[in-house]
Amino acid sequence: MATGADRIALALGITTDPKRLVRAIFSGRRRNMSPEFEKIHLRPVQIGREVKLQLVTTSKDKIRTTNIDFADFDPEKLWHSGYANLLVDSTTESITARFTKKGEPLVSVKRAENVQDLAHDKTRNHLIRPESEFAFRLGLTDKTGRIKPSMNKKFIQIEEFVRILLPLVKTMLEKQDLDEPSSSRPLTIVDHGCGNAYLTFAVHLFLLEQNISNKVIGIDRREDSRQRNRDAAQSLGLGASVDFIADEISNFNDIPTDIVLALHACDTATDDALAWAVHNSAKIVLVAPCCHQDLQRQMSNDVGPWSLVVTNPILKQRLGDILTDSFRAQLMRVFGYRTDVIEFVGDEHTPRNAMIRATFGEKLEDSNRQDEISKFRNLADFWHVQPRLGQILEL
Ligand SMILES: C[S@@+](CC[C@H](N)C(=O)[O-])C[C@H]1O[C@@H](n2cnc3c(N)ncnc32)[C@H](O)[C@@H]1O
Repeated sequence: MATGADRIALALGITTDPKRLVRAIFSGRRRNMSPEFEKIHLRPVQIGREVKLQLVTTSKDKIRTTNIDFADFDPEKLWHSGYANLLVDSTTESITARFTKKGEPLVSVKRAENVQDLAHDKTRNHLIRPESEFAFRLGLTDKTGRIKPSMNKKFIQIEEFVRILLPLVKTMLEKQDLDEPSSSRPLTIVDHGCGNAYLTFAVHLFLLEQNISNKVIGIDRREDSRQRNRDAAQSLGLGASVDFIADEISNFNDIPTDIVLALHACDTATDDALAWAVHNSAKIVLVAPCCHQDLQRQMSNDVGPWSLVVTNPILKQRLGDILTDSFRAQLMRVFGYRTDVIEFVGDEHTPRNAMIRATFGEKLEDSNRQDEISKFRNLADFWHVQPRLGQILEL
């Protein structure tokens, strides 16, 4: 009959077989032993024509990913360095082994049909690397560098934000509409309603990877957010370039700013973010609005043929959303921004998937400006509403 040692040898053998290995995890430590890492996660990945062994090593808050040849991997040596637990999933079985406090190996082998996933993260076209330290520190990913299922949608949202931002920054730099950033004069980015700062850190680190010096300020009215986010910035060694302020957006000081972002800043907080961007002459503005309440409260049901729409609560809400963003986009045009409204992610990732994308062109000449203001007024008068952004911008 197979002993515990035989079964462990079987499990270790699978980790060197690219056709059978689905995943393996070495973790914990045996008594009086000090393996190098807290955990090592292995899986086969397809890189070009070859299948390599991917090792994700975790120690304290550091996660590192390396891809090596299967032939170079020595599972016996790794296991004997002192790990206490081993999990090996092959295409036909799941094996778990653990050392008891008395140093006895307990091994279980179960038949299982596990499926290999050879996709390399890079082939998934991630712009934000899931194995980045910040993603783990903020709770977007687990220790093995996998995006947590509950955070998948947020991850996609921030990734699409940076995907849209980068070409705008590059084009503006090429046209010299933005000053060339340097370490002494980095781009200034403000993320309004930053919450847990997923977008704040993602944008900062992504632009740094593109050699675009930048500093980012996250604004949120919640003091606990400021505290938690500052701690995260310190622990990631980013305290000098990523800062957080607890304040109302409408109350936050004016500072010269290149880029203004807001991802799902609630209700009129999006209007405050847009107004703040205009007042601070931001060159690029990307805001994905959240719930819209302001206009719904003002819209009457007595609007001629449109009464058919607004007497239905769902249709009224949808129409209110559309009108709110139409007013916002138009007001940005009044202030010289080339503005459109796009879907930044599919609606399966958030029903709030509209984004107002605005880049500063030039101040409009008086007559053009008056034309744009009239278009805004005509629509507002028709609906007998005073959109919040118009009020703040005094139009
Ligand atoms: C829905 S959360 C989105 C957080 C983050 N941007 C994200 O996408 O994960 C909205 C955040 O905006 C903040 N907020 C709402 N209104 C605000 C205001 N007027 N001034 C400052 N922060 C505000 C809230 O405290 C909350 O953290």
